[in-house]
Amino acid sequence: MTMTSVWSAFDPARWEALAEAHGTPFFLFDADLVARRVQQVRDACAGLAGVYYAVKANPNLGLLRAVNGCVDGVDISSGGEQMQAELAGFAPARMSFAGPAKTEAELTAAIGAGVGCISVESLREIDACARIAARLGKPAQIILRVNPNQVHKSYGLKMGGRAVQFGIDEDLLPQAERRVLEHGAHLVCRGLHSYVGSQCFDGAGVLESTRTALGLARAFESRTGLTCRKLNLGGGFGVAQSGEERELGLESLAPGLQEMLGAFRREHPACEVFFELGRFITAEAGIYVTRVVDLKASRGTQYLVCDGGLNHQLAAAGTFGAALRSNFPLLNLSRGAADAAVFNVAGPSCNPTDLLGIKVTLPLAQPGDLLGVAMSGAYGLTASPLLFLGRDTPAELVQRDGSIEIGRRRHTLADFN
Ligand SMILES: Cc1ncc(COP(=O)(O)O)c(C=O)c1O
Repeated sequence: MTMTSVWSAFDPARWEALAEAHGTPFFLFDADLVARRVQQVRDACAGLAGVYYAVKANPNLGLLRAVNGCVDGVDISSGGEQMQAELAGFAPARMSFAGPAKTEAELTAAIGAGVGCISVESLREIDACARIAARLGKPAQIILRVNPNQVHKSYGLKMGGRAVQFGIDEDLLPQAERRVLEHGAHLVCRGLHSYVGSQCFDGAGVLESTRTALGLARAFESRTGLTCRKLNLGGGFGVAQSGEERELGLESLAPGLQEMLGAFRREHPACEVFFELGRFITAEAGIYVTRVVDLKASRGTQYLVCDGGLNHQLAAAGTFGAALRSNFPLLNLSRGAADAAVFNVAGPSCNPTDLLGIKVTLPLAQPGDLLGVAMSGAYGLTASPLLFLGRDTPAELVQRDGSIEIGRRRHTLADFN
């Protein structure tokens, strides 16, 4: 399936009906496609590793509820995400909590609720977990997040293999393990976590980071005498949301992955091994729909000015961590085959970088048309400055089994007072 054909079942009248019912802009997510993406990862692992969903990629409640039925657990990064995952029906035991600045209150809530594994990211955090666990009279279930010495060059955004705020440097791991053991029964250390980066398009990168994590787990066991019961292999499977259609090729990766995981699982039949994925699971499954308010020319360039832009979909404007900006796939949802023209597609804000598309060829558009930004299912609203300029936040709709429900309602600026 191509990135834009996901939406080809919708005709202009259907898009217009959704816009009338929910207002514009809005997001629409296809939960069935999300389930198929999870299954693709499961198939590549031949059941030897589980799949956790990284809530930060898209915390929409309706989507999370749908995802609940097809993933093994969730990666959460805050107390807010823990609450949202609980609302979506995830038991705390199915949560893995990572993040470099977990507060005392967040750790207390996580330990109190029995979160399945807290990825501790520093020596201080080990002590904090033990102290809170002692106070609560309930052991903290932790795993140690490692920042490995080497990370394959193919990760577009590296979160390990160099100086970073995440995890415990590999060289400090023996010290961290001793610290854990000193805390005795207050800490149940179940294993390790290694998330080394995002947007990896080369199977060799995932294979190398997996090999490294398995090796680290074996070394952890031999140093501590503990058995590894949870091994979080990280995520970062790449999907291009802009530019050319490109994603990590699971088929080429599968044989090597299965061999490695198979060997590890034979030694560790009781160990829960899993990937935690965001973008790969949800990016393709979302579209952001905005209405053209104005068509104007400025010094020879045609601008379609829309009622939504970087305030809801910052990444499409190229300002969410992209080194080089390129257009997300854009569609004119109101017109089928019409003469095409070249446009800049602008959002409503006062910032000249508020461009959802630069020099995009689109079926000739007019004010009133609906435009769609495909590949908007991951790091969309959640990673955007949604209060900027005080427009309503968009409704987020979730399609599942052919019916569409509101996954998050619109909010006005006043709702946030
Ligand atoms: C700890 C952790 N897990 C999972 C993810 C999800 O990454 P991705 O969407 O690239 O799969 C991230 C992203 O930053 C992360 O920091």
